[in-house]
Amino acid sequence: MTEKRKIVVLAGDGIGPEIVAATREVLDRVAPFEYEEHLIGGISIDENGTALTDAVTDACRASDAVLLGAVGGPKWDEAVARDPKAQRPEQGLLGIRKALGLYANLRPVKPSPALIGSSPLKMERIEGTDLLVVRELTGGIYFGESGRRDDNGGTAYDECAYSVPEIDRIARTAFEAARRRAIGRGYGPRVTSVDKANVLESSRLWRETVKVVAGDYPDVELDHMLVDNTAMQLVSRPADFDVIVTENLFGDILSDEAAMLTGSLGMLPSASIGLEGEPGLFEPVHGSAPDIAGQGIANPLATMLSAAMMLRYGLAMADEAGRIETAVDAVLASGIRTPDLFSGSEGETEAGTAEVTAAVLAELN
Ligand code: IPM
Ligand code: MG
Repeated sequence: MTEKRKIVVLAGDGIGPEIVAATREVLDRVAPFEYEEHLIGGISIDENGTALTDAVTDACRASDAVLLGAVGGPKWDEAVARDPKAQRPEQGLLGIRKALGLYANLRPVKPSPALIGSSPLKMERIEGTDLLVVRELTGGIYFGESGRRDDNGGTAYDECAYSVPEIDRIARTAFEAARRRAIGRGYGPRVTSVDKANVLESSRLWRETVKVVAGDYPDVELDHMLVDNTAMQLVSRPADFDVIVTENLFGDILSDEAAMLTGSLGMLPSASIGLEGEPGLFEPVHGSAPDIAGQGIANPLATMLSAAMMLRYGLAMADEAGRIETAVDAVLASGIRTPDLFSGSEGETEAGTAEVTAAVLAELN
């Protein structure tokens, strides 16, 4: 037996602890792991006075992979409303992404066949959708200089800056991913680089740099699309996209939009990857859903699918990853649905987190 891989678990706030506990049961069913639980986000502010401690960052660095639930909630929003200097839970998430150098965020969007009817979009539009959003995660407006100036009642600013090396490396991630995805597929790899080059200087550098990188990938078809147009195309012809590569803020927005193609934000997993050999971080795209926390009805599937991404990309356990994905598809095909996916159609059964988890475990047997 090889040594057990060490997973740092950051459950966080809201539904985070519920969906992460459910996912650990599933992980335990496919292989033995060593877990180390740590605090992040609001709960860490409450316990430690800060959304992310150095000890937690160090523990993540020493792990093989990090599994995260969600951060944030109204309690801490109110604290910030009272005192603008108070910390936000989200700072913990941004902090760990930066500290681990996780510059590439991969968000695959491929509606499960059983859920095609659950999307708010017409079935014929969704069919065939299989795209990957590659979001830059440690630069841009999220990490630029920001602040307030006290002129005339106050001005606030957030700088959006990108350097050539930052754009170069995320573009390479996208081209490489496009090549991998095209293996054994009927059509060649395609990358759509999304920007706002008709307005923003940072976008013009983005576009120039992506064009240069494309020279190293002559087999990959590249096109450039403005972000507003992309938002429209994503709902009108989602099946035409392959890999979308874009900056931090545009990727945040477009991936929530793309998530609805799968029927629910509760379905979308993500992988955040940094330098070769460093641990990645795996988390659902959705947030902490404080309105349903503690009710036992949260959809754990995005976290389970994130764990599958962890096995595939972070721990080189592709077979085990595939087993989880197949089990999730089978459970959806059987009609079992948490409320976010439940439409009341014939053949569907409404279920809570525990029942959905039990169904996935049963499929894994
Ligand atoms: C996401 C989330 C985060 C982000 C928030 C919680 C800071 O929306 O992972 O998409 O904006 O990156
Ligand atoms: Mg988001």
